[in-house]
Amino acid sequence: FAVHLLAFHFTKLKEDQITKVDRFLHQLRLSDDVLQDVAARFQAEMLKGLARDTNPTAAVKMLPSFVRSLPDGSEKGEFLAVDLGGSQLRAHQVRVSDDGKQSSQLESKFYPTPKEVTQGNGAELFDYIADCLSDFMDTRNLKQKKLPLGFTFSFPCKQTKLDEGVLLEWTKHFRVRGVQGTDVVSSLHRALQKHQDIDVDVLALVNDTVGTMMTCGYDDPRCEVGLIIGTGTNACYMEEMRHISLVEGDEGRMCINTEWGAFGDDGALDDLRTEFDRELDLGSLNPGKQLFEKMISSLYLGELVRLILLKMTKEGLLFNGKVSAALLTKGKIEMKHVSAMEKYKEGLSNTREILTELKLFPSEEDCVAVQHVCTIVSFRSANLCAAALAAILTRLRDNKKLLRMRTTVGIDGGLYKTHPRRLHPSTTRVPAGLALSPRAQLQHPASPKCLWGETPHIQIAKVSV
Ligand code: GLC
Repeated sequence: FAVHLLAFHFTKLKEDQITKVDRFLHQLRLSDDVLQDVAARFQAEMLKGLARDTNPTAAVKMLPSFVRSLPDGSEKGEFLAVDLGGSQLRAHQVRVSDDGKQSSQLESKFYPTPKEVTQGNGAELFDYIADCLSDFMDTRNLKQKKLPLGFTFSFPCKQTKLDEGVLLEWTKHFRVRGVQGTDVVSSLHRALQKHQDIDVDVLALVNDTVGTMMTCGYDDPRCEVGLIIGTGTNACYMEEMRHISLVEGDEGRMCINTEWGAFGDDGALDDLRTEFDRELDLGSLNPGKQLFEKMISSLYLGELVRLILLKMTKEGLLFNGKVSAALLTKGKIEMKHVSAMEKYKEGLSNTREILTELKLFPSEEDCVAVQHVCTIVSFRSANLCAAALAAILTRLRDNKKLLRMRTTVGIDGGLYKTHPRRLHPSTTRVPAGLALSPRAQLQHPASPKCLWGETPHIQIAKVSV
């Protein structure tokens, strides 16, 4: 009986806390109707970005990637790849099999990107990338080889060909002087030339979404969308050339890097943004920019949770109204904490530990409430992301003049891969028509177990519209 009573007490306590948080955060809970509306707004933004006359003022830039088709099996050989834009710099050695059907990552090495690199000056940044590459080739015994290099540069670039790209703007935690408005391929090329001991040719510049879509294409030729949910968020997809008025020619398709992180920068999402979103934006490196990304990606979700907890505490709803110095400090709560607090089994004890570290002396009620705040913030992120993805999928389907479509989305990014609340991709099948429920689409989804392709840094979700 005592056990039952205790369980009843805990359930009641949990319900009370959840109701309290739900009331406080009602603005962060988006109904299906609102999400459908977000999808519709994003569809309109895509059109604006694609058309030559509206592109200059469009928030969502819809950048042509000059990747015209998916891997067709004719590519083979050994390549180097360097990846800049996430939490670390990565160098890889990649081999595409003789029949061109499989790409295998032979080896990767991670390098840190300290603040001197992400917020220093351009020459230093490119020298650093070249140094890392030279070190990688040294460790892999590749210095005597002449190798082509794929440069994954995860920022918005205006491309006119595959091996050239002018940086439009820094995003995420990068703000390097003297790079904006310049071609990043030639800067890397110059830095590489200083290294007499290596012979590397920069073959292609790709956004991480595009790289993800292409790698996924090796496992599944139906892949026509690439999605990143990590430090930042973005997606690319294959668009009909006849709809891309910025590039000559009407035949075939080209991959478009949507740069959806900037959705809302023209005010299109102002009615959905909360006081917490506005405060977070004001304290960021790029106020007024990447507003959609700031509601979704891992660089920002921890800080959103911190701002919410701070306000709740100040209003006496948490921790007996007692704020700690740590809670007042920007950046003290990170995505890894949010994920840990949301874990299915250990979540509650993790929450207690994390809050205690922040010198907040939480009660049982506080822990339950804080855990629920994390859930709401993550759930909104997943839903918004899904709404924009739904818009892309619908566009793909309409382009093909189909009622139903089966397709594959290549997905990567730290938040996607590590978030504890995932939905099995096979459950993301949704009915025909635009009865596409964004909520059903993604909940920082996919368990690594249900991969179709076992590429280590890529997970593939099958989605049928
Ligand atoms: C940011 C960048 C974008 C990138 C995304 C994910 O939104 O602007 O280019 O794809 O982060 O890394």
